[in-house]
Amino acid sequence: MKKLVTVLFILLLLAGTKAGAQKENLISVNQLVVIANNPGPVISKDIYGHFSEHLGACIYGGIWVGTDSKIPNTYGIRNDVLFALREIKVPNLRWPGGCFADTYHWKDGIGPQEKRASIVNTHWGGVTEDNSFGTHEFMKLTELIGCDAYINGNVGSGTVKEMAEWVEYLTSDSESPMTRLRKENGQEKPWNVKYFAIGNENWGCGGNMTDEYYSNVMRQFSTYLNNYGKNRLYRVACGPSDYNFAWTETLMKDGATRNRFQGLSIHYYSLVDGWNNKGSATDFDEGQWFQTMQANNQMDQIIKGHSDIMDRYDPRKTKGLVVDEWGNWFDVEPGTNPGFLYQQNTMRDAITAAIHLNIFNQHADRVKVANLAQVVNVLQSVILTKDDKMVLTPTYHVFRMFRVHQEAKLLNIDLRCEDYTYGTKKIPSVSASASVDKDGKVHISLANLNPNKPVTVICPVIGETFKYVAGEVLSASEMNSYNSFEKPDLVKPASFKGFTLKDGILTVNMPSKSVVVLELTK
Ligand code: AHR
Repeated sequence: MKKLVTVLFILLLLAGTKAGAQKENLISVNQLVVIANNPGPVISKDIYGHFSEHLGACIYGGIWVGTDSKIPNTYGIRNDVLFALREIKVPNLRWPGGCFADTYHWKDGIGPQEKRASIVNTHWGGVTEDNSFGTHEFMKLTELIGCDAYINGNVGSGTVKEMAEWVEYLTSDSESPMTRLRKENGQEKPWNVKYFAIGNENWGCGGNMTDEYYSNVMRQFSTYLNNYGKNRLYRVACGPSDYNFAWTETLMKDGATRNRFQGLSIHYYSLVDGWNNKGSATDFDEGQWFQTMQANNQMDQIIKGHSDIMDRYDPRKTKGLVVDEWGNWFDVEPGTNPGFLYQQNTMRDAITAAIHLNIFNQHADRVKVANLAQVVNVLQSVILTKDDKMVLTPTYHVFRMFRVHQEAKLLNIDLRCEDYTYGTKKIPSVSASASVDKDGKVHISLANLNPNKPVTVICPVIGETFKYVAGEVLSASEMNSYNSFEKPDLVKPASFKGFTLKDGILTVNMPSKSVVVLELTK
């Protein structure tokens, strides 16, 4: 009976909101209904993943300083970066690329440091890569962070044998040439490797292949990627970027292809005005802010498009969508190497992160892994370093605030909100998602996309009664406020008091351009 009353109440509430919205064509109240007693799928912790490529100062300088460095380190890995990554509960880390992955030959990066081959990083700045950070160093990094390894294999310029041997070297506990080599290099026991990608962007930097050709190659490579001992590889096939639905169709339509992978990757970067007009990360106007927000919102359409295709061939949703590159891509900071993709990170990036993480949460039934590009010093990083200094970016703070959703169950929400209008264009001003964790705590994450106007969100929480609310807010005085090495704490989260809870209705007063995460307990 109680359930029936709840359902009727929800239906009335939703119907009322819809009718009202049609009549006025304008919603004066922002309303977010949260249905707290009917949880949906588990939000995979792995959608909070990160990506580390041999690119610019991501690995070298940003993560790896070597054991002889004056910068405090553990086995050559910076301590400050390590602690910061632990704090946001990084669930998995993707490595070694990106485009670099399809030029990487893993045997160059094992054995005594002084004997490792130097190569040229042809994709990223033409710099010398001394291979001092290789398989053992990466696996140590994941162990120290406490996260799973996501390794990206080389299809574009590698061989089946090379990839098969890498998996064997990493995960086998049998007696074999590869396991003997691993032991000689100081690692007695096999590692666990959770995710293994069969190439990266093979429609582009990973070999310029067609979808048909790649699917055949993928089938061949995948055949030799064995599960050794207890290790079960989650094989990720290279998927398309953006709206290339034909590629997904090709990979999904044939059972013999489909059975060779567990996850299909997609890449999507938010661009202000196409690849030739990306604009500055810090010096932008409201028009560019608005374009970034529009670009961010497209992630939802992109996921829906690829999910619809996957649903046709995999209605039980056994395959995951792996959004293993996403984020804002702006021009490099003036005076920096164009091949290093170094960009600052502002309040605009914080909102970008919140929008994406809310979208991934909402697609928890299909999106199982996602990796922000990239973790340190490259594109929309969570961390920037300069010599021994480290800065946590606004994006970092969003990841810390949102970590409460990891492995929680998605809650149904119904969001009706006013538009954020710029010129003749409009987008919803609020982004949201909600989940319930294993202790019964509900978390609601919200972003106000409007840089000029606070919003009040009325939030009826249906089906469960909560007594206490606590929250955090991230906001800034300017759209382009950022944390620099001189002022590292200009943008940082604060305790949030802008809410009331009365008779099961939460009222949230959000500042302009802000991210808020609320915790409701009984
Ligand atoms: O993240 C930078 C690059 O963007 C990656 O190497 C590549 O996969 C993508 O095009």
